[in-house]
Amino acid sequence: MDFIIRTMKKNDSSDKEFFDYTNFESYKTTLKDSEKYSEEELHKKFQQFEEDDPLDINESKHSVFILETYNGIKVGLIWITNREPFWRFNDQLAWIYNLHTIPEFRKQGLARLLMIRAEEWAVDQNLNSIALHVLNDNTFARNLYESLGYELVVTHNTSCFYEKKV
Ligand SMILES: CC(C)(COP(=O)(O)OP(=O)(O)OC[C@H]1O[C@@H](n2cnc3c(N)ncnc32)[C@H](O)[C@@H]1OP(=O)(O)O)[C@@H](O)C(=O)NCCC(=O)NCCS
Repeated sequence: MDFIIRTMKKNDSSDKEFFDYTNFESYKTTLKDSEKYSEEELHKKFQQFEEDDPLDINESKHSVFILETYNGIKVGLIWITNREPFWRFNDQLAWIYNLHTIPEFRKQGLARLLMIRAEEWAVDQNLNSIALHVLNDNTFARNLYESLGYELVVTHNTSCFYEKKV
């Protein structure tokens, strides 16, 4: 099957719905005990999580790329931002907030394509580095990042922070 990667239209309701859906689904994977909660409770927890660190996707520093089939079925997304230096990251950097592919389309190399698109974006932004946070037990994602040349910069509790110079 052929796919395209395009920029998310921030004022398009269908794109925004997919953006919200993938953020929520990725958030759920970060909870150790998500099965304990009802869907409604999970939505409440997610809302709280978003309120604790509010981000305005409409700011120009945020870019989102959607991967879809030629007939318009959305199957994956990457959200990346141009971020100020923070903590162990001393330079302006490209920061990945979310990477997600829908379960039916996993293990086909599609997340890898989205990561490569994000790296191109970082270079276009004149950024020298791209980095992200992942939980230490997210083996699939960590395998992917390591196979793309990302290096573990620091660990903190259950968190891993990876960086790649581009
Ligand atoms: C992590 C995630 C994005 C991977 O998506 P994907 O489309 O399956 O990834 P790809 O097919 O591009 O896989 C690339 C690499 O990931 C690893 N990988 C992916 N799925 C795997 C699996 N089921 N078992 C083992 N390794 C796996 C492999 O290293 C693979 O490389 P290879 O095929 O060359 O060996 C997807 O599982 C997902 O959306 N998970 C939920 C959200 C999430 O955890 N996002 C990351 C948060 S930091």
